[in-house]
Amino acid sequence: MVTVLHHPLVDHRMVYLRDANTKPKLFRELVSELTVFLVYEALRDLLRTKEVTVETPLTTTVGKKVADEIIIVPILRAGMGMLDGMLSVLPYAKVGVLGMQRNEETAEPIPYYAKVPPAHGEELAILIDPMFATGGSAIDAVSQLKKLGYRRIVFLNIVSAPEGIANFEQRHPDVPIYTAAKDEKLNSRHYIVPGLGDAGDRIFGTI
Ligand code: PRP
Ligand code: URA
Repeated sequence: MVTVLHHPLVDHRMVYLRDANTKPKLFRELVSELTVFLVYEALRDLLRTKEVTVETPLTTTVGKKVADEIIIVPILRAGMGMLDGMLSVLPYAKVGVLGMQRNEETAEPIPYYAKVPPAHGEELAILIDPMFATGGSAIDAVSQLKKLGYRRIVFLNIVSAPEGIANFEQRHPDVPIYTAAKDEKLNSRHYIVPGLGDAGDRIFGTI
């Protein structure tokens, strides 16, 4: 259920994203661009379409329009960095937010805010967070979405750790994961190595 993007345009951007000297402006732009690649790949097979007829200047033909209702769910704070990229290709999506703060010692996620409407049908929920470390935040977020009735969920992230993927797959084996890079491991502070540091701080310039 894990798809790692393999593409020179992704790898190229990852070099600048990881670079400790990259400033917030460029960092945010890279996060947005990588998000577009992620959602493009993830929705290829997940999005439902309906056939429509269209009059070209020459003839009538059949096309396919997106039929799904979509809700994008960023995990605060760093997930907000991916929202512009998402909305650039899904401008009609709803947005719900989940606030989550990792305990710095234990890495346990502490949920502090939730504003997501309950599911009313078969809408597709797209969870976004650039960092997927122990998996605690994403696991909790998906549990919250399931409690709200969401049955079709996909999780997009930019950097993932093998530990997070393993934990997540145990709890939510039905939820596909798309990541731009699968890194080596977590360090003793539960940070992803080689990683890119603290994504929230780098997006918001709070280092
Ligand atoms: C970071 C990141 C993820 C989480 C990943 O958020 O944005 O939400 O950690 O780690 P996990 O997989 O071990 O749960 P953090 O709690 O540092 O908050 P922030 O986004 O406000 O910086
Ligand atoms: N959160 C981050 O921002 N970076 C990590 O490496 C792990 C969690």
